[in-house]
Amino acid sequence: MTMHCHKPGAALSPILRPGTAELVAGKGPLLIEWVARHGSPVNLIWPDELQRNLAVLTGVLRESGVAHALYYGAKVNKSPGLLAAALCAGAGIDVSSLYELRDARRLGADGTQLVATGPAKTAAFHIELIDCNALISVDSPEELEDLIRLLPAGGGPVQAVLLRLRPTNQARSRFGMPAAAIRHCLSRIAGESRLRFDGLHFHLSGYSWESRAQAVGEAAGLISESRAQGFAPCMIDIGGGLPIQYVDQRAYQVHLDSQMPEDYRTGKVPASFYPYGGGLSAAEWLRCLLRAPMADGRSFANYLVHEGLVLGMEPGRALADQAAISVFRVLRVKAVGPDAHVVFVEGSSFSACETWFGSEFLVDPILVPAISPPVAAKPIRAYLAGHSCLDEDVLCNRWLTFPIAPRAGDLLVYANTGGYQMDLLENEFHRHPMPSRLCVVQDAKGQPTLVPDT
Ligand SMILES: Cc1ncc(COP(=O)(O)O)c(C=O)c1O
Repeated sequence: MTMHCHKPGAALSPILRPGTAELVAGKGPLLIEWVARHGSPVNLIWPDELQRNLAVLTGVLRESGVAHALYYGAKVNKSPGLLAAALCAGAGIDVSSLYELRDARRLGADGTQLVATGPAKTAAFHIELIDCNALISVDSPEELEDLIRLLPAGGGPVQAVLLRLRPTNQARSRFGMPAAAIRHCLSRIAGESRLRFDGLHFHLSGYSWESRAQAVGEAAGLISESRAQGFAPCMIDIGGGLPIQYVDQRAYQVHLDSQMPEDYRTGKVPASFYPYGGGLSAAEWLRCLLRAPMADGRSFANYLVHEGLVLGMEPGRALADQAAISVFRVLRVKAVGPDAHVVFVEGSSFSACETWFGSEFLVDPILVPAISPPVAAKPIRAYLAGHSCLDEDVLCNRWLTFPIAPRAGDLLVYANTGGYQMDLLENEFHRHPMPSRLCVVQDAKGQPTLVPDT
């Protein structure tokens, strides 16, 4: 029997794919055995979900007739299984460090499948990118000079670059460059035969397609300027930022509308949240962007087709949708006041990390009791804390009502943690070993079983 722990009247039950729902609701003993074997928390990965997400997005792109290059944003999760799944499904990989690059290459990616983004590429990273002739998104005129210094003196393949635009709607961002700096880089590339300008890139914070449509308008102007100067760009790359729907949209709105400072043990509602219950799926978001009108009235999709441009994109979170859960074992429940408890878990908020950003993972955890609860068990109100000595080590600052008091050995499952939550901040604080990460596959009898995530 599983139970959702929630704010009464304003639950945020996770949207679960059938396989996960079945595992959590019907296979508690198996989950308990897995945690006993691999420790708490255990991060479970479904690489096939990433392939399903990829198929949905490529379906939208094909429908619109737009040529595309989809790169999985490897930063979103450390799982090699997810990387391998992306490559196996024909996607490329967006690498933002030497180590992501090496992982992708170890798993068989060649330069044609790689794009490197990020503002702070080291010389060693540039050298390995040049070595495999990966596409490089250049963040600044300064990076362009560093890159030019590292290009082989002569004879090597021409190095393809994108220039990362900082659209006017992100004027205060430290990422990318304004139009004037793009023009400066173009004049530098014009005099450098070892470089080829392949197009413009941007990645914006926030999750609205409208801000991307605005940026595309600016990119289109620069693309046409560059063509007039004799360049032959072939790509506009819109980065990532496609949304995930973690919880039902209406339930989310009810929750947001009813939030009060007293709902939080801190006495404060966080200032901002990821849009956990947004109105659009990643596919709908992409359709909206492709239909968005350009200044000349053409849709973005028609513009790309008529101008012979490839749409590049690097979704991270959206491709990890439903591809992972994090399972924590309950350590102890402690009373901290009348009708107030803290549930300590084996593990820490570094493995469910939104509170470290002053926010909250607005998805309710699911309680999987280790043994049948007593018939007369009563609900309790509690927040969730990790096993470290840091006051801030809190997985959930919200007061949750647990339908029955959790007991040591029970499990708390956080669903859909693949997109940054589960491993962005994980570490070995207190010398606790790093959480295990395993891939869930089906055995010969169609039952879920674990394999190493290598
Ligand atoms: C340059 C770049 N591209 C892509 C992404 C992926 O974004 P998301 O996971 O929101 O799709 C990021 C995330 O920070 C990024 O910085």
